[in-house]
Amino acid sequence: MMKKLMLILMIAVLPGFALAAGEAVQLDHMEPDHANKASLQRGAATFTNYCMGCHSLEYARYKRIADDLGIPQDMYVENLIFTGAKIGELIKIGMDKEQSASWFGNAPPDLTLESRLRGEDWIYSYLRGFYKDDARPLGVNNVVFENVGMPHVMVSLQGLCAVEPQIGGKASVDPLSGNVQNGEICSDWETEGSMNSAEFNAAMYDLTNFLSYMGDPVKLERERLGMFVLIFIAIFFIFAYLMNREFWKDVH
Ligand code: HEC
Repeated sequence: MMKKLMLILMIAVLPGFALAAGEAVQLDHMEPDHANKASLQRGAATFTNYCMGCHSLEYARYKRIADDLGIPQDMYVENLIFTGAKIGELIKIGMDKEQSASWFGNAPPDLTLESRLRGEDWIYSYLRGFYKDDARPLGVNNVVFENVGMPHVMVSLQGLCAVEPQIGGKASVDPLSGNVQNGEICSDWETEGSMNSAEFNAAMYDLTNFLSYMGDPVKLERERLGMFVLIFIAIFFIFAYLMNREFWKDVH
């Protein structure tokens, strides 16, 4: 019996070891906050402007994002849909997968569930991890995703780091104040961007937060419902306890 229990326990904790072993690169941590609508709105705007040329969100609809993020639908259509798509449609893009694969080496994947696949820390680090590397076809590489096919699309914002940026140096954004700690990750800039490091980190926090929401749009609702369930159980326990006492009162 004991042996069997031990075996079951071993099997139960095994996947944990497998996950721990997969963590090869150092990452910066970011704490997603789906209740921060302003952050999600800024993230959605950045995604629309800088990412949607290549990446779709084809398991999501524009309308769902507009409703969840509190963006009025006509405003959303006017400012965040450039393709003439209707607000109820899925977020597809026009780029042909085969062609883009021949341009970049790999086709840009759909990003609806990217935060589930890679995790928020990975995305946040990856977006800040580009640097100049003349050995690569597009002149850039990434410390989190070696030999990546994606160009550094935000070079006008971040600038181009001439050396490998220090990811994993415990840079983090305080979700309450928005302040960035240890934000300076590049010691030598090839070209400067329009944002300073703190601003760029904050923008990438918002963009990652948006992709985190995208991968789990019902998180807030689930947590809210969970509270009610717990409160219900707590109240139910009182009555169950009283009834139990009543039933056993006369048994000696
Ligand atoms: C010019 C096209 C292009 C644009 C614009 C672009 N990407 Fe990419 N992206 C790619 C390509 C191509 C890949 C695949 C790279 C590879 O597999 O080598 C990629 C890969 C990625 C990945 C990694 C996917 C994975 O798990 O393998 C993430 C995350 C990502 N992009 C996010 C973004 C975000 C966020 C933006 C907007 C700021 C953006 N991309 C803009 C082309 C683009």
